[in-house]
Amino acid sequence: MSPRRSHRRGAGTATEGQEWPPEDVRSMEQSVGRAPSVHNTQPWSLVFGGRTASLYERAEVSLEQHDPEGRDRRISCGAALTNLFLAVRATGWDVELRRGPGPEEPDLVGVVTGTARREPSVLEGQRFRAITRRSSHRRPFHEEGLAHVSRETLLAAGGSSGVGARWVTGTAEARHVAELLGYAARVHKKDRHYQRELAMWMTDRSGRASGAGSGFDGDDLVGEGVPGVGLTTSGTRLPEQGRLAEWIAEESVMVLCTDSDEPSDHFRTGEALELAWLTATSLGLVASVITQPLHLAEVRRGLRERLGLAGEPHVLARFGHPAPVPGQRRG
Ligand SMILES: Cc1cc2nc3c(=O)[nH]c(=O)nc-3n(C[C@H](O)[C@H](O)[C@H](O)COP(=O)(O)O)c2cc1C
Repeated sequence: MSPRRSHRRGAGTATEGQEWPPEDVRSMEQSVGRAPSVHNTQPWSLVFGGRTASLYERAEVSLEQHDPEGRDRRISCGAALTNLFLAVRATGWDVELRRGPGPEEPDLVGVVTGTARREPSVLEGQRFRAITRRSSHRRPFHEEGLAHVSRETLLAAGGSSGVGARWVTGTAEARHVAELLGYAARVHKKDRHYQRELAMWMTDRSGRASGAGSGFDGDDLVGEGVPGVGLTTSGTRLPEQGRLAEWIAEESVMVLCTDSDEPSDHFRTGEALELAWLTATSLGLVASVITQPLHLAEVRRGLRERLGLAGEPHVLARFGHPAPVPGQRRG
């Protein structure tokens, strides 16, 4: 069963002239289907009616070991909402966005309504076109760091939708983050139940996962550099902590956090994450996301205290230039 399904509903009160044309529906479905999601579970559904497109969380998509509270599922849905928003703008409609969840719709991520004809801006067009090019880049980056202007641009995108974004800065912060990521990696590596579930979501050579959905490529987990502690498998060789701290200090690692820790905060974090990721892609940069360690409450607490964060951290996102040779090890 593909978790990527969308459902078309009758137009309700809409007149015929207000229906989305089939090509717009296809574009919205494809854009939402390209959003990043935890273990590539794509835990959402899309409902069309009149001139609206509504995105719902599929709470039944559960990762009991990896994501027992559904935090990542909701962040994934938020990322899909950003893609939906951009896809509607790309059709030339101005957009009204009503965010969920609501008291009667706890699974509502958001409703996007086309209100009047308005061409997308250049920036929206660039971000929309980046949707098909974005992917997780779990390899070390090129040693050239990001230009100041790129870091500022990414920070502005990550800090949208009411989410706080800041870079991990300096060697002391990098050491703190390395210590917390190293701790989480050791916990996850030796947890057999956790590892069994993770293995179910990794695809085999035929591209299939034994889990209930699409899954992700296990070969992608090269275990080198910072990403090695970003999704730790039973086979990951954990880096020495001092080296990990150096890698973190060399990369651009963004922390996304919110004042509170409600489902709506997770949705908003996903929106901001995807906006930053698409912005990076449109600039020719690459990125990968790290949430696995943040599923441990003590790691989130440690990040909050040691980095002096004002709110609850949800995601670490690393951004950089792609290395010229894939998988190239840095010196
Ligand atoms: C909420 C969320 C959490 C994620 N957590 C991790 C993570 O901890 N480590 C990792 O390597 N990738 C993580 N990912 C990346 C997903 O595995 C990836 O988006 C998915 O497999 C689809 O692949 P793609 O990003 O290349 O399209 C996460 C993605 C999302 C949206």
